[in-house]
Amino acid sequence: MKLETNITQILQKQKQNQVLIKIATCSILIGLAYRLYFSTPIQISSVIVADNHHKSPPNPTLSDEFPANYTRIHQGSTECDIFSGEWVRDPTGPQYSNYSCSTIEQHQNCMKNGRPDSDYIYWRWSPYDCSLPRFDPRIFLRFMRNKSMAFVGDSISRNHVQSLLCILSQVEEAMEVYHDEEYRSKRWFFGSHNFTLSVIWSPFLLKANTFEDNDGHSSGAIELHLDELNSVWVNQLTNFNYIIISGGKWFLKTAIYYENNTIIGCHNCNNKQNLTETGFEYAYRKALHTALGLITTSSHKVYAFFRTTTPDHFENGEWNTGGYCNRTVPFKTGEIDMREVDTIMRDIELDEFEKAKEVTNGSGLRLFDTTRLSLLRPDGHPGPYREYHPFDGKDRNVKAQNDCLHWCLPGPIDSWNDLMMSLLVYG
Ligand SMILES: *[C@@H]1O[C@H](CO)[C@@H](O)[C@H](O)[C@H]1NC(C)=O
Ligand SMILES: *[C@@H]1O[C@H](CO)[C@@H](O)[C@H](O)[C@H]1NC(C)=O
Ligand SMILES: *[C@@H]1O[C@H](CO)[C@@H](O)[C@H](O)[C@H]1NC(C)=O
Ligand SMILES: *[C@@H]1O[C@H](CO)[C@@H](O)[C@H](O)[C@H]1NC(C)=O
Ligand SMILES: *[C@@H]1O[C@H](CO)[C@@H](O)[C@H](O)[C@H]1NC(C)=O
Ligand SMILES: *[C@@H]1O[C@H](CO)[C@@H](O)[C@H](O)[C@H]1NC(C)=O
Ligand SMILES: *[C@@H]1O[C@H](CO)[C@@H](O)[C@H](O)[C@H]1NC(C)=O
Ligand SMILES: *[C@@H]1O[C@H](CO)[C@@H](O)[C@H](O)[C@H]1NC(C)=O
Repeated sequence: MKLETNITQILQKQKQNQVLIKIATCSILIGLAYRLYFSTPIQISSVIVADNHHKSPPNPTLSDEFPANYTRIHQGSTECDIFSGEWVRDPTGPQYSNYSCSTIEQHQNCMKNGRPDSDYIYWRWSPYDCSLPRFDPRIFLRFMRNKSMAFVGDSISRNHVQSLLCILSQVEEAMEVYHDEEYRSKRWFFGSHNFTLSVIWSPFLLKANTFEDNDGHSSGAIELHLDELNSVWVNQLTNFNYIIISGGKWFLKTAIYYENNTIIGCHNCNNKQNLTETGFEYAYRKALHTALGLITTSSHKVYAFFRTTTPDHFENGEWNTGGYCNRTVPFKTGEIDMREVDTIMRDIELDEFEKAKEVTNGSGLRLFDTTRLSLLRPDGHPGPYREYHPFDGKDRNVKAQNDCLHWCLPGPIDSWNDLMMSLLVYG
């Protein structure tokens, strides 16, 4: 609960601070993004340079890789914005369960933990202007043969990887080949497909010194180097063919900002040290700029998806003041507004994405814009069922800690793989 414990605290401070932010017009940027996106359909295989030192076989074409009927679904819809749509009922249900997938992390294993309702698993994301085929693990693994994919970010990235692993396990059970001390970065190998999948813990993407114990108790402000990227992912970049990268809510935490190894300001530091409050916006922009800049200018060609921020759904309180998320059906468009902080973060993300996109001239970088579709799913979080049977033998009114940020598995985040597949196939 490290992440959300701090987010909401900061959100509260944020409100108090009344940070005034110029909110750019999203729609213009989004429109622009998708124009660039789909006006130049790209065959992914043609932009990936697997390894310059080995001679690689001729790049497979899309028609070699994908069955005709899969491709046909999208015909005539290359302009479709797959991130604009609605959640529709799907009686088929998820592609895995708590029985079939043995690697679901306890805190997201809502079925096992006794969540009483199950309606939330019978929805899938449906774009307005085209159909979104289900993620097909066979096609995906075939496409990923001899390749490597990495997710870089915070616990939401880990959540996504967990979902992907569960779906892929129907075809091949991955072998875990690496984990770091805290089990936050991991790597898996799919032997019969020679495919390597990694998740790399780097919530700031930057070089950061954090002073937190394992329970998330902080003993000092985070020191964030805005002009230095975190070597943990940068040093591995040349190993990857695909990278799914994201920033997120850790930037809302109290932090002291460095540039050139010199303190240049801080966020939420209450001016104990007389530092300049720059707002988290400055740091967030700088981090994304530096990270995307590295990817777009690297001589190693990596195909990158940049994922936008994920909203939480605490209601009637925050994580530490009794906030909960007990809704059991999705919102419809227009039933919920984005919180100001999510709007601010997403605007910065779209801005920096556009800048990076100009550098790449439209190739190799795609926006993975899950913010709005996630906003519509207040019903998909573990809530109190982050713990095993939280109310067993207890008064039903006992205050349990809720998780209204991460997603149950199976759950709404499974749809992210449908979207990823679509981007992989159609560019
Ligand atoms: C494609 O066609 C095959 C065989 O006709 C079928 O089994 C499969 O379900 C189809 N896939 C899609 C995505 O429609
Ligand atoms: C799966 O969830 C059900 C409740 O939906 C539970 O009874 C069962 O013990 C769980 N099994 C595993 C293996 O997690
Ligand atoms: C994977 O690599 C092996 C060994 O280099 C090669 O024989 C094979 O054709 C490659 N497969 C694909 C799909 O690139
Ligand atoms: C596995 O893929 C790598 C490239 O990622 C390639 O160098 C290697 O030859 C492949 N191995 C086999 C056994 O196909
Ligand atoms: C960083 O510090 C070096 C040496 O102190 C100096 O030459 C350089 O101009 C500084 N760069 C910035 C951006 O402040
Ligand atoms: C903090 O800044 C104010 C205004 O610049 C100054 O008057 C004060 O002495 C500074 N305090 C410390 C502890 O540096
Ligand atoms: C959610 O919890 C609140 C407070 O306990 C309750 O008033 C409300 O009816 C609950 N809603 C649902 C859908 O269970
Ligand atoms: C950028 O893309 C456009 C259209 O695809 C192309 O005409 C132009 O030559 C490209 N520029 C560079 C520098 O690659």
